[in-house]
Amino acid sequence: MICPRAVFITGANKGLGLEFVRQFLRLDNPPQQLFATCRDPENAVELRKLEDQNACVQVLKLDITCEADIKSAAREVESSLNNKGLNLLINNAGVTRKRQYVGNLNKEHLLEQFSTNAVGPLLVTQSLLPMLLKAAESRDTLVSCNKAAIVNISSILGSITESRSGGMYGYRPSKAALNMITKSLHEELKEKDILVTALHPGWVRTDIGGPEADMSPEESAKACLMVLSKLSKENSGRFLSYDGKMIDW
Ligand SMILES: NC(=O)c1ccc[n+]([C@@H]2O[C@H](COP(=O)([O-])OP(=O)(O)OC[C@H]3O[C@@H](n4cnc5c(N)ncnc54)[C@H](OP(=O)(O)O)[C@@H]3O)[C@@H](O)[C@H]2O)c1
Repeated sequence: MICPRAVFITGANKGLGLEFVRQFLRLDNPPQQLFATCRDPENAVELRKLEDQNACVQVLKLDITCEADIKSAAREVESSLNNKGLNLLINNAGVTRKRQYVGNLNKEHLLEQFSTNAVGPLLVTQSLLPMLLKAAESRDTLVSCNKAAIVNISSILGSITESRSGGMYGYRPSKAALNMITKSLHEELKEKDILVTALHPGWVRTDIGGPEADMSPEESAKACLMVLSKLSKENSGRFLSYDGKMIDW
């Protein structure tokens, strides 16, 4: 059963991130503290409604490419946790610029995707690490998403082994970089009892996935939470799909 006490989610204003927030709130034991972050809280109407209706939800401003935002969000979380740890960080925010073939590359768009999909999640993780380490000290919980975990929402498009269709020079390599970051974090943090996973949420009907995608955000988030509920020390450091299967890096 998934029942982390404190959860932090990036890109929570829409798509999969917003649906993660909704589904955490529907758990039998919802988080006591749910930090739902987004770039523009004032215009995050749905998310603010959830904050108004649920005392555990705290909406924070966070552009994951902005170091000042990252530091300020981490300070607010630390103060709000009041010496308790952070159990689960979901690095969900991501960006894609679909039409990128070798003939029409745009350096700014390439860097934007690396900055958002790879560097951002790593810097967010760094800033929240002391709070994750605090949660990992707990002696009475096994390694799991209820204790201390970092979940990086990746994409099968970042798998080098599974790559078949070419192009997407910003999105694919930036998600491959996120996968490498996941593995490195796992190797660095495994002795500290922090679980680290890269998770492909499926092809989902969001702004990134488009209207033709296979799954609704509800179906995807539900499946992802099921996968997260089963994570343990044994399957940390892997690239998993929403159906629980392993994906080759
Ligand atoms: N949908 C799919 O089929 C699919 C498949 C594989 C992986 N994924 C991954 O799933 C994750 C969620 O995407 P989604 O499908 O839910 O798409 P989405 O509806 O477009 O949501 C993307 C989220 O990321 C946020 N974001 C983008 N840049 C950001 C930044 N610099 N700082 C903070 N937040 C930022 C967006 O905020 P704004 O509203 O401010 O732009 C939005 O909340 C992404 O990592 C994506 O790569 C999606």
